[in-house]
Amino acid sequence: MDTGTERKTGGLIVYSSRTGNTRRLAEGIRQGLAEAGGPEGQELTLAAVEEAPDPAGAPWILVGFWADRGNADQKALEYLTSLEGHRVGLFGTLGAYPESKHAEDIRQKVQALAAEKNTVLGCFLCQGKIDPALTERFKGLPADNPHAMTEERMKRHLEAAKHPDENDIRNAVRACLSMVQSSPPESSR
Ligand SMILES: Cc1cc2nc3c(=O)[nH]c(=O)nc-3n(C[C@H](O)[C@H](O)[C@H](O)COP(=O)(O)O)c2cc1C
Repeated sequence: MDTGTERKTGGLIVYSSRTGNTRRLAEGIRQGLAEAGGPEGQELTLAAVEEAPDPAGAPWILVGFWADRGNADQKALEYLTSLEGHRVGLFGTLGAYPESKHAEDIRQKVQALAAEKNTVLGCFLCQGKIDPALTERFKGLPADNPHAMTEERMKRHLEAAKHPDENDIRNAVRACLSMVQSSPPESSR
C-alpha cells in the first residue's frame, strides 16, 4: 500500500472498521473519487487506521469511523486527535438511522473534536449492519433495561442489516467529493 513518504500530493482516506462496514464504504469512496477523476486526478491513498498512515503533505484527509457507544470508535478518535492543521472530512457507519438525533449527536461530537486543530469539511453517515452477537445480547436483556430489545429496535437492526448498500456508497461518494472539492489546491495552503 502506498503510504507515508511516497505519497506527495494525493488525498488520504483512513478508516477504522471492526466488522467491515466502514471498510466497504471507504473502498467505495476511494473507487468513486478515482472514477470522478478527482480532485485534479490526484493519487489517492486508502489505509486502515491500524497502519497509522502519515498525513504529511495530504491536501485533504477523509477519516472513516464506526459508532461505538454514542461516539466514534476509539481508534478513529485517536487518529483524529493526532491530526493538526489539516482539511478533514468525516464519514461513518452506525446502527441508528442517519437522520436520528443519536446520529446527529455523534456527528456533532466527532466534528467538534476534529475541528479543535483542523478545518472540518463535513460528515457523512449511513447505517451499517450490527454485529449479530450484539443484537442477541440486547434480546437477552430484561424489559426494564434501557437497551432492552423492542419491536422498534428490532426493526432498526433489521434495516441496518441491509447497509451499507449501493445507494449509501453512491451518496457517500457524492458527499465526500463535495467535501474534498471544497479544499483549495495545495499551492494556496
Ligand atoms: C460494541 C458496539 C457498540 C456500538 N455502539 C453503537 C452506537 O452507540 N450507536 C449506533 O448507532 N451504533 C452502534 N453500534 C453499531 C455499529 O456502529 C455499526 O454496526 C457499524 O456499522 C459497525 O461498523 P464496522 O463494520 O465498520 O465495524 C455499535 C456496535 C458495537 C459492536
